[in-house]
Amino acid sequence: MKHLLKMMDLSTEEIIEILNLADQLKYEQKHGIEHHHLKGKTLGMIFAKASTRTRVSFEVGMYQLGGHPLFLSSHDLQIGRGEPVQDTARVLSRYLDGIMIRTFDQEEVESLVKYGTIPIINGLTDLAHPCQILADLMTIREYKNSFEGLKMCFIGDGNNMMNSLIVGCLKVGMAVSVACPEGYHPAQMVLDFAAQYPCFELTDDPKQAVKDADVVITDVWASMGQEGEAERRRKAFAGYQINKELMALAKPDAMVQHCLPAHRGEEITEEILEAHANEIFDEAENRLHAQKAVLVKLLGDNK
Ligand code: CP
Ligand code: NVA
Repeated sequence: MKHLLKMMDLSTEEIIEILNLADQLKYEQKHGIEHHHLKGKTLGMIFAKASTRTRVSFEVGMYQLGGHPLFLSSHDLQIGRGEPVQDTARVLSRYLDGIMIRTFDQEEVESLVKYGTIPIINGLTDLAHPCQILADLMTIREYKNSFEGLKMCFIGDGNNMMNSLIVGCLKVGMAVSVACPEGYHPAQMVLDFAAQYPCFELTDDPKQAVKDADVVITDVWASMGQEGEAERRRKAFAGYQINKELMALAKPDAMVQHCLPAHRGEEITEEILEAHANEIFDEAENRLHAQKAVLVKLLGDNK
């Protein structure tokens, strides 16, 4: 593993290795055991979109690993004034040990890989959010002990989260059922991948998708960059809310995950979010541990 661009690129073994290392790093952090695997290393973090969790967890994670993070807003970099990605990649490769980037177009992340010479981590694009899915899988395994026999259900938009969860959950052996309205389906490449799995289901009926689910997941109806479509999307996704009635159809001990930020009263009710707050905020915490594992794998000397 040289980069982390999307879940599709990771083998099941690589995913499990990252999760195991994340568990170990979490244990070490909780017990005050020093784990300076990235002493003297620097990570550039380019953000073309807003962030709370990704920015803070990567920044703190690098610090805890003994390395140094640099926050680089794309509005302040020359990239924001039109300097091409291919030049930026070649310049930054001469200063840094790795780059994490949050942007719109997946191709921009691929260009950093093509022209740069250092590991590139996708911190969210319109297509994929692999860092979040590693934290979600870590949290699911913490609560359920194993992935065996579990069903993950995602209700809502066929966005970066749905794309990445379908691939990640299928790869670790879970059954996957997703419900989204016509016109808001996941990416075709994800559907082609999922078609190999008989335990994958795509429906427009949330009740059908959530039936007997062990893990129920949703995300906002309008992602970053889609703010202008919010009203149209609110209409399209009416009926795709995770609420008490829908949760009654999942397994009685079903957990809920939400990458956050959440829009209470839209994709999830306040009641359900608060009832599952432990799982959801453990998920947010696990961003830190899962990303530290990715950083050690990609930037560490023993990779
Ligand atoms: N879940 C997530 O990626 O959060 P941020 O947008 O706050 O980074
Ligand atoms: N789908 C959301 C995820 C935010 C973490 C977005 O792209 O805005």
